[in-house]
Amino acid sequence: MSLKDAALAVRKNAHAPYSNFQVGAALRTASGNIYVGCNVENVAYPEGTCAEAGAIAAMVAAGERDLAEVYVVADCPTPIPPCGGCRQKLKEFGDGEVKVTLGTTDGAETETTIGTLLPGAFDQGHMERS
Ligand code: THU
Repeated sequence: MSLKDAALAVRKNAHAPYSNFQVGAALRTASGNIYVGCNVENVAYPEGTCAEAGAIAAMVAAGERDLAEVYVVADCPTPIPPCGGCRQKLKEFGDGEVKVTLGTTDGAETETTIGTLLPGAFDQGHMERS
């Protein structure tokens, strides 16, 4: 299954009764495996989690940490921009060149990279003096 098809399929499982905005994310790792996630909202709104976070958690739980490619999709007028927190979460497991495709359910796509999504990222080097 392609990353796009995996993201579109998992999006249908999103639990989004509050925003009514379903998001699907699929990650391919260096080993070639695919991990998926959808947003999971909660009546206590800040407890909800994004699709990207779910896919990353599935990847790490399976013992993998090396992102090779990412696909995120939602029913948007323009391809979905990942939230700021998810950009930092993706950066944790992928270097700047990792391709990220942002999509709409209509088939529009924007190709970008983790580095472009999070310029000037905070990383371990910034803690060197501590
Ligand atoms: N959402 C994601 O799952 N990923 C993003 O990158 C942006 C936002 C979800 C969170 C929430 O369930 C809904 O979209 C509306 O913000």
